[in-house]
Amino acid sequence: MLLGQPNLRPTYMRWSIYRSIFSHIVSISAIVALAACSGTEIPSSTPIPTIQTAPAVDPASMPGKEAIEGSDLYSANCQVCHGDSNGAGGRGGAPVHNDRGHTWHHPDAQLQGWVLNGKLGFGSPGMPALGDKLTEPEVDAILTFIKSWWTNEQRDSQADISERYQDALDKQQKR
Ligand code: HEC
Repeated sequence: MLLGQPNLRPTYMRWSIYRSIFSHIVSISAIVALAACSGTEIPSSTPIPTIQTAPAVDPASMPGKEAIEGSDLYSANCQVCHGDSNGAGGRGGAPVHNDRGHTWHHPDAQLQGWVLNGKLGFGSPGMPALGDKLTEPEVDAILTFIKSWWTNEQRDSQADISERYQDALDKQQKR
């Protein structure tokens, strides 16, 4: 049997060596795994990694810095009359600004103008002019906050109206 080549072991013998090395590796890893599973060996300070799945959040509904500022300004200056995001707690005559109101029917320039300069009320004392209390960027922050209460469709529609209204204003100014 393979007498002319004494240095060469038959193939099946080499395989059996590989197999025994392999089975050792398998049993060592089984011991390591068992030790890990028993739990007691894990020091309590070791953070156990958890798999984090990204929550399905609509980016438009995520409050940015401006919306957070807007939220504070809204509670301080508007909520007493217009109520909260559910329309609760307001005063009669002041419309709600959420998705059940009609604030979203109006372009940005108009909304900003009403907050700064006031709006005549029909059967109500009207909307007071707040231009001496709030700056334009503050009014923008409040409007950004109010927009977080609207549906995606309302936001899209209002963004479209705002753009077209602004175009019309720009054209008027060029005349
Ligand atoms: C003293 C009460 C009062 C306060 C404070 C007030 N509003 Fe008003 N607001 C009203 C009333 C009343 C109306 C309705 C006017 C009318 O009949 O058209 C109104 C109307 C509006 C409108 C027009 C809505 C629409 O669809 O016609 C906007 C926008 C508005 N307010 C935003 C604000 C914001 C933003 C603030 C805070 C910065 C604010 N208001 C603070 C009473 C108030």
